[in-house]
Amino acid sequence: MQKQRDSFSSKFGIIAAAAGSAIGLGNIWKFPYIAGENGGSAFIIIYLIFIVLIGVPVMMSEFIIGRKAKQNVFGAFRQLTSHGFWKIIGIMGVLAAFLILSFYGTVASWTIEYLVLAFKDGFSGKSSDELTFMFESFSQSTFKPIVWQVLFMALTAYIVIGGIKKGIEKYTKILMPLLVVIIIYLDITAITLKGGMGGIRFLFYPDFSVLTHQSIIDALGHAFFTLSLGMGVLITYGSYFKKDTNITSTSISVAGADTIIALLAGLAIFPVVFAFGAEPGKGAGLVFMTLPKIFELIPGGYIFSILFFLLLSVAALTSSISILEVIVAYISEEKNISRKKATIITAILITLTGIVCTLSFGPLNHIQLRGFTIFDIFDKLASNILLPLGGMFISIFIGWKLKKQIITDELGNYGTLRFKFLKVFMFLVRYLAPIAILIVLVQGIWQIIMEMIIAG
Ligand code: PHE
Repeated sequence: MQKQRDSFSSKFGIIAAAAGSAIGLGNIWKFPYIAGENGGSAFIIIYLIFIVLIGVPVMMSEFIIGRKAKQNVFGAFRQLTSHGFWKIIGIMGVLAAFLILSFYGTVASWTIEYLVLAFKDGFSGKSSDELTFMFESFSQSTFKPIVWQVLFMALTAYIVIGGIKKGIEKYTKILMPLLVVIIIYLDITAITLKGGMGGIRFLFYPDFSVLTHQSIIDALGHAFFTLSLGMGVLITYGSYFKKDTNITSTSISVAGADTIIALLAGLAIFPVVFAFGAEPGKGAGLVFMTLPKIFELIPGGYIFSILFFLLLSVAALTSSISILEVIVAYISEEKNISRKKATIITAILITLTGIVCTLSFGPLNHIQLRGFTIFDIFDKLASNILLPLGGMFISIFIGWKLKKQIITDELGNYGTLRFKFLKVFMFLVRYLAPIAILIVLVQGIWQIIMEMIIAG
């Protein structure tokens, strides 16, 4: 039984939605921070190599699977192969979506709180200690983060209920250009700050001596997370592509946009940090504890702070809708439930697990597995294990399992496009991607075991 499937309506809509998924919290706070910590541009060069050699081919693989099967991540593998093993990608994808959206909602709730604080001019006159206290007491409290989390999930669900054309595409087409405008404004303000050059040097001056083999592993892991690879987001989005969508150029545009935004985020943050002599390597704290101190010191800081947290909220929202869509497509198609019902049920369930994540900073902080809170466990399980594992299976599926004819047909749009790089593409998905991912995966799992041993 084939129902009429929704689809994206335009090329720009596809790029906005897919880039909207890719560009998220991973780009705006995580990338600048880990790049800085790993020797700036030396790390960036390696990260770029991974994006090009592994990220883009795996992204193309997801799009091929999605558009060929025109199904949710679970149904896609059932459609393309009779072998039951591959369903595991679907199962892992749905599970990863659940976990990631739960902790994404927690960080989004902080972001919304800080957007409100920025509006209320709530950072001015606060000392660094006060700002640290402010963040800690907010993130550890019970009521307010949950209110924001519920609001964020409701907004996510509202967009997803609208469907592809009238929901996801419609809103990402507005939100993504808004994000670009905001980030450019922030960049201009940051770069023209006196003393800001130090930040630019920090981010772009290559210092290969700081690079360790851990940096290389981090670079590959982050390439996966930032491009939303390995859990079927792009299989699901690919299933809404039209016949004439160019899979190769779309993948390059999305990966390019994601990289540019990550670099622009670094350019907006580090000159500001350096101009005021703040500590650059603070991770999550950089955005919520260090930056607010600086906002009041820069010209136009009030507007800057509002726009910054608006940027972060928008980036989080366009990613969270893509994650919710993976599960909604799965439930509505596989279980024959209406889209609206499927979205509401899923959003409620994820809000509940998300609340548990949020409370793991406060009242539930005592529930720990060898030093890891529930939030940490969700994050590590999804990002360090499920995503790379999914990515590895996806590239093996394309490289070794799917009929070559299907791959050439999808990449060449059934004879209407010329795809010149088939040999290179096949080499990357057959050998390079699975082997590189396997190394990262083993290392990631090893690290978790070691951390557990140390903590335990
Ligand atoms: N790519 C998003 C980010 O950088 C996170 C994400 C991961 C979204 C996996 C969807 C799937 O924040």
